[in-house]
This record gives sequence, structure tokens and C-alpha cells, in this order.
Amino acid sequence: MANNIISTTTIILILFSLFLAGKSQPFSTSLPRSTLRLERQNLTRLHFFFHDVVGGPNATAIRVAAAPNTNTSPTGFGAVVMNDNLLTVGPEPNSTRVGRGQGMYASADFNNMSFMMVQNYVFDEERFNGSTLSILGRNPIMSPVREFPVVGGTGVFRFARGYAEARTFFFNASNGDAIVEYNVYVLH
Ligand SMILES: *[C@@H]1O[C@H](CO)[C@@H](O)[C@H](O)[C@H]1NC(C)=O
Ligand SMILES: *[C@@H]1O[C@H](CO)[C@@H](O)[C@H](O)[C@H]1NC(C)=O
Ligand SMILES: *[C@@H]1O[C@H](CO)[C@@H](O)[C@H](O)[C@H]1NC(C)=O
Ligand SMILES: *[C@@H]1O[C@H](CO)[C@@H](O)[C@H](O)[C@H]1NC(C)=O
Ligand SMILES: *[C@@H]1O[C@H](CO)[C@@H](O)[C@H](O)[C@H]1NC(C)=O
Ligand SMILES: *[C@@H]1O[C@H](CO)[C@@H](O)[C@H](O)[C@H]1NC(C)=O
Repeated sequence: MANNIISTTTIILILFSLFLAGKSQPFSTSLPRSTLRLERQNLTRLHFFFHDVVGGPNATAIRVAAAPNTNTSPTGFGAVVMNDNLLTVGPEPNSTRVGRGQGMYASADFNNMSFMMVQNYVFDEERFNGSTLSILGRNPIMSPVREFPVVGGTGVFRFARGYAEARTFFFNASNGDAIVEYNVYVLH
């Protein structure tokens, strides 16, 4: 009798665990590309200007941290700047706005002026409204052309990869303000 109860309990436990196994969700599923309409990718070129306002009461790029030796380093090594910069169609600050360049850059080279760029560009122009591109790269600011990898995106830019070319359009040596021209090529 006791044996029967034990084996009945065992069978119920086994059946219950099989039931649980049947109910559990798969961890990974292979899907056809058409599920997310990825059969073909678009190549988009974006052209805009990035307004890095460092000086004055309306600064949009602000130093938030530094290393103990930042002020004596020839490259300002360790300085970390957070930015929420205006992006426009033309080089003038009052030109049509296309979005914001939000992120941080930090002096990351002991010998040559070079920043590490960690940026999310959020666009508000019509079909790109709310979509973002993420950029992570090395910015040797004295070079005429700098190239940054586009590491991803959201919205219309899901699955994005590509690159950005940055050129300094204007630099004010007395307060550090800069206007940087961007050409971005994105597969998405
Ligand atoms: C700062 O922004 C305010 C408000 O938009 C504006 O009135 C002022 O002229 C700006 N100052 C400078 C120096 O750009
Ligand atoms: C934009 O600013 C420039 C001066 O920098 C001025 O000549 C022009 O009239 C302004 N345009 C508009 C639309 O406000
Ligand atoms: C850094 O600058 C030195 C000269 O100042 C140059 O020889 C070297 O190639 C530069 N390195 C990089 C990675 O740009
Ligand atoms: C962008 O989207 C926001 C809401 O997410 C909306 O308020 C705004 O009007 C849109 N702008 C354009 C240009 O479509
Ligand atoms: C890709 O390009 C086509 C044709 O220009 C357009 O209709 C579609 O919305 C684009 N897709 C994305 C994700 O931007
Ligand atoms: C450069 O910055 C200085 C100091 O803020 C300012 O007086 C000057 O007008 C700026 N020059 C230009 C061309 O914006």
C-alpha cells in the first residue's frame, strides 16, 4: 500500500515536470529575414552640422570630470565632456534643426589630441523622427577628416551599421566652440 502511494506520487511528479517542460518558452528561435522585412537593406546618407558650444551661458557641451593630471597634460588627458548638441541642415546655428547629438567625449590619448566619442544622434526630421544612431570611435580632432563607426541604431535605423566622416567647419580658438560637418553612410 505504502509502495503504491510512493510510485503514484512519483508518476504524478514526472507527469507534472513533463507538463512544465512542455510549457517552457524556447530561448532561441531561427526566423526568416522577412519576419522583420530584412530581405533588403537601405543605404542612407545623412549630412548635417554638429554644434559643439563649449563656452558662454548657453554651452551644450560641459566638462563633467577630469583626471588629477588633466590640466598639466598636453592633450588634457582624462577630461570628460557631456554634450547635448544641436544638429542642423546647414552650418549656421539658426539653420533648420534635424536633431540632437547626445553623448560624451573624453580625451583619451597621452600624446596626440584625440577624443573617444560615445554619441547617440537622435533625429526629429519627418521619417527619421525619434530614430537614433549610435557612434563609438576615435576622434583625432586635428585631422581634417575623422572617421567613426556607426555601431547600431533604433527606429528606422534598426540593425544599422556604417560610418560617419567628420570635418571641422568652424573652430573658435578663444572659447573652444566648434561646428563640425558630418557625412554619415548607414546600411539599415
Ligand atoms: C542664450 O539663450 C538665450 C535663450 O535662448 C538667448 O536669449 C541668449 O541670447 C543666448 N545667449 C548667447 C550668448 O547665445
Ligand atoms: C541666421 O543667422 C545669420 C547670422 O549668423 C543671419 O544673417 C540670418 O538672417 C539668420 N537667419 C534666420 C532665418 O534667422
Ligand atoms: C602622434 O603624433 C606623432 C607626432 O607628434 C606622430 O608621429 C604619430 O604618428 C601620431 N600617432 C597617431 C596615432 O596619430
Ligand atoms: C516627432 O514625434 C513627436 C512625438 O514623438 C511629435 O510630437 C512631433 O511632432 C514629431 N515631429 C515631426 C517633425 O514629425
Ligand atoms: C527603404 O527605402 C524604401 C524606398 O526608398 C522606403 O520606402 C523604406 O521606408 C525604407 N526603409 C527604411 C527602414 O528606411
Ligand atoms: C569666439 O569666442 C569669443 C569668446 O567667447 C567671442 O568673443 C567671439 O565672438 C567668438 N568668435 C566667433 C567668430 O564666434
